[in-house]
Amino acid sequence: MTIAIGWGKIILLGEHAVVYGYPALAAALDRGVSIAPVPTTKGALRLDIPAWNLAVKADDDHPVARSLAAIVDALDLGRPGVSLVGDAQIPPGAGLGSSAALAVAVARALLSHAKRAAEPAAISAAASASEVLLHGRPSGVDVALAIAGGIGVFRRSAGLRSITCPQLRVLVGPSGEPRSTAAMVERVAEVTNATADDPRLAELGGLTDLGTSALLARDLAALGTAMNRAHIVLADLGVSTPQLDSLCEAARVSGAHGAKLTGAGGGGAVIAIAPRHKETAILAEWRNAGVTGFVATIGART
Ligand code: MEV
Repeated sequence: MTIAIGWGKIILLGEHAVVYGYPALAAALDRGVSIAPVPTTKGALRLDIPAWNLAVKADDDHPVARSLAAIVDALDLGRPGVSLVGDAQIPPGAGLGSSAALAVAVARALLSHAKRAAEPAAISAAASASEVLLHGRPSGVDVALAIAGGIGVFRRSAGLRSITCPQLRVLVGPSGEPRSTAAMVERVAEVTNATADDPRLAELGGLTDLGTSALLARDLAALGTAMNRAHIVLADLGVSTPQLDSLCEAARVSGAHGAKLTGAGGGGAVIAIAPRHKETAILAEWRNAGVTGFVATIGART
């Protein structure tokens, strides 16, 4: 049986600004959501992800059930008799692209069950239908990474341009603070009057360009400086929290090149890049603060 995968992701630079057309530098995690389509005789389309305590049928009154229905409708598959049984290696609602990873894995599993080709355009349209329901007006960066994996620069107008770079180890700290992407995107719209020429959004876009050049040149100090500055700008837009600020500060004090919130903010996760010999100290500081972090490897395998 084919296992369908959607990758989780981190945004190294450019979240929120990407909604307004600026570039974001983002990378798939080496983990996500995997789903196996199990044919059933009972005929009900259902989705079970025990790792997230999730069990819904497509016609339930539940946000994930509505997403499931939106995906199967976008793929024009009716209501197939299949049980989608999955596993998740990323936490839900943590700013790591869990909803897009789930939507992409569901779309792939449904296409596989229907013996239809796994066309990226069809998967993208179906997963985007689900993301619009959950997040209002997503840029598409999460879905693009969940499908393609790897690392790249995403723009609303051009999609994902994959880049090849040496492997990078990124510390990821899911804060456990619940948050809503839609609410954070709405907050940024309020403080910027939803205009792309707000200087803070433009600065975030510029930091993506700087950070991308630094990553390609393997200048991790410069990448870290761009990340630190991006966190300050994101905080100024109102999407950080005291906990995210203090997790980032703890990482910097413990020797990180840079640290920032990742994704929508308002809770969710922080990321840090650091010299290898500082990683243990940073993870220990986060653990003292009640956060179990992990190291994700992104970029090319060497
Ligand atoms: C969410 O992972 C990133 C945001 O920029 C929203 C989006 O791009 O859809 C906050």
